[in-house]
Order: sequence, then structure tokens, then C-alpha cells
Amino acid sequence: MNCIQHKTKLAVAMALSLAVFSAQAAEVEVLHWWTSGGEAKSVGELKKLMQAKGDSWKDFAVSGGGGENAMTVLKARVVAGDAPTAAQIKGPSIQEWANEGVLANLSAVAKAGHWDAQLPPVVSSAMKYQGNYVAVPVNVHRVNWMWVNPAVFKKAGATVPKTWAEFPAAADKLQKAGFIPVAHGGQPWQDFTIFESVVLGVGGADFYKKSMVQLDQGALQSATMLKAFNTFRMVRKYVDKDFSGRDWNLATQMVIQGKAGMQFMGDWAKGEFAAAGKKPGADYLCVDAPGTKGDFTYNIDSFVMFKQKSAEATKGQDDLASAIMSPEFQEIFNLNKGSIPARLDVKMDKFDDCAKKSHTDFIASSKAGTLVPSIAHQMAVPAATTGAIQDVVTQFFNSEMTSAQAVVKLAAAARTK
Ligand code: BGC
Repeated sequence: MNCIQHKTKLAVAMALSLAVFSAQAAEVEVLHWWTSGGEAKSVGELKKLMQAKGDSWKDFAVSGGGGENAMTVLKARVVAGDAPTAAQIKGPSIQEWANEGVLANLSAVAKAGHWDAQLPPVVSSAMKYQGNYVAVPVNVHRVNWMWVNPAVFKKAGATVPKTWAEFPAAADKLQKAGFIPVAHGGQPWQDFTIFESVVLGVGGADFYKKSMVQLDQGALQSATMLKAFNTFRMVRKYVDKDFSGRDWNLATQMVIQGKAGMQFMGDWAKGEFAAAGKKPGADYLCVDAPGTKGDFTYNIDSFVMFKQKSAEATKGQDDLASAIMSPEFQEIFNLNKGSIPARLDVKMDKFDDCAKKSHTDFIASSKAGTLVPSIAHQMAVPAATTGAIQDVVTQFFNSEMTSAQAVVKLAAAARTK
């Protein structure tokens, strides 16, 4: 072969491989609300994995903890006929979106990847609509945590409270020593996050299920719910004056920096401690929210894919779904995010003690019947009902509403469809 022939052959080969490459490359536009330090690091891992598969990642990040802003933006895009490739959606909303007929069926990818065998039933059932997978889980977060700065407690001579009855004594000591007892961000979903831990701690898992999942009218207006509101009001006394509107990760920073003693937040807060180089057991403690030892409020993050017209776009979705379910991703993502893998077969060796505790508690609570869905994080009831209940909780936290008035409003809100 002469030089020209050789060069031509090379050029043809290159053109061919480029053609193959571009046929495989797909752009995936992914809507999510992971914008804090720990969250951004975690989602960055997914982006890397997709790029390694030759797909291009178009980031569609909508800031706002808890995802309310993201959901508003998503609805507008879908209504305008311009749905992204994938979106972070969870809980009963997955079924609501599937019911609209806009979600892609992921069952072929799920079958090839043996998802049914890899996922605990509480996770897999939440991902399905009429027996088919329409969502892919990234993790399991636990919400009923209390994040503690042990140095602050030590300086104040306070003991970490194990029950809500013990809570005021500890919080008073922190306050007297000049610390903010509770780091809190006054946004409706954050108020609701504290409230659900209070309901669980005051009433126990059965009461939580009856009131927050089954929306039993009797439970919602019971003496136990009155006690929960009284306790919630008591916690309100211990937040600082600037709490209104504060983002959750800024509240976590207050604990990290030793300005505040504790925060009630799901374990995405651990992602912030980790990103700041802090070590659990030394720099901070992860303890059960008062009265909730052995109970587990779960919050599963997941992605749905919107139906696509082109084969290339569908391929991008399949790549994304299988990347998310890969053991490598489930490990690296959750090491950064603070949650535990959704897959049962991922080893916990590299995880810290908080994640190991979460993993043990997840399995034990599932057996004991004390594994409950987080209502504040949209896992328990339909979105409209969640919103109506959240409104009552926030109004109560930010007004002089009495507990007796609150239970009546709560019961009415629970009837919202
Ligand atoms: C999500 C977490 C997220 C948190 C704060 C929760 O609802 O499940 O993944 O980190 O909101 O934005």
C-alpha cells in the first residue's frame, strides 16, 4: 500500500469511527435540585459517568432545597411540550406523572440489570407504575436525624437529648452559654422536616403511619397530635431570630462552625459536613431525632425519564438509568451525598459510621415495621395533600395559632385531593 492509499484508508477509518461515535453519543438533559456543596459533588459523579459512556450532559439545576422550585419549573417545561430527558422526581409523584402518560418505560433496562433482585421492595415498588419500572433510585436518605456539634454541647455542659422531654433542659443550657440551640432555615419544607420528626418522636411509628400516611382523621385530631404541636412550638423557642428563609445548608454551616448546637435534617446534611472535611464521631455526631430510636423515616431520591422520539435520545436515557443503578455509581454518589445505596449488594466498607448506622437501622426497622415514608420529603401522600398539610405546619410555626386550632386545620388539609 502506498502512502496515499494508506492515508485514505486511515481517513476513512477515522470518519467511520467518528460516525459510530456520534451515533452513540446522546445529549441528556437532567433536571435536579442538587446545588449545595455536597449535593453538587454527588451529581458531578453522575455527570462523569455519563461522559465516560460518550453521552453529553446538559445540566438543568434548579436551586431550592426540597425541590419545590424544581417541580414548578418542570411542570412549566412539560406543559410547553419541552420536557427534559430526565428529572429528579420521587414518591407518589412518580405514579402521578406516569398516569399522565409522559414517562418512558424502563422495564427492559431493569430486566437486563436484574433490578428486582437488587432492590428492597420498599424501593422497587416506589419506582413502578402498573408493574413497570418508570423511575430509577439513586439512594435511600434517612430524615429523622439530629446533627450535633459535640464541642458546643461540651462547652455548655449539656447532654445530647434522647427524648423530647429531655430536649428543653439541653437547649436551655446551650442558650445560656451563648449558642443558638437549633440551627434552622425557615422555609416550609424545613419546618415540615422538624415537624415529622416531632410527630414520630412523640407518637411512635404506628401513630406516624396512622396520621401522616393513612391520614386517619381521628389520629390527626388526637391528644397525641396536640402534644406533637405543643412540642413543635417548644422547639420554635430555640431557633435564632434570623432563621426566616435561610437555606438548609447555611443552617448546617452554623453547626459546622460551632455557632449552633444542633440541626434537624435528613442525611444530605452529612454531605455538607463531609465536603467541609469534618469527621463523624469527632467533629459532629449523627444521632436519632429525640424519641425516634429504631425508627426510620425514608426518603428515596430517584429519576424518571420523559418519553423521547429519537432512538439516540432513548439510548441516552438507557445509559443514564443503567449508570445510576451501577454498583460503582451507587457507592461513590452516596459516599458524597450522605445517603446509603438503594442497591442491597453494595458493600458498606468505605462508608462512615453514620451511613453504617443508617444501613443497619434501615434493615432492622423494615423488619420491625418502623420504617416509615417521610411526608415532608414527598414520600407518603400525593403532592397536593403534602402541600396542604405543609401549609398548616408552616403557618403554625410562624404564627400564634394554638395547637387546638392546628389539629383542626391539619385534619381539613389531609382531605385535600
Ligand atoms: C432530597 C435530597 C436533597 C434535599 C435538599 C430532599 O428532598 O431528597 O436529595 O439533598 O432535599 O435539597
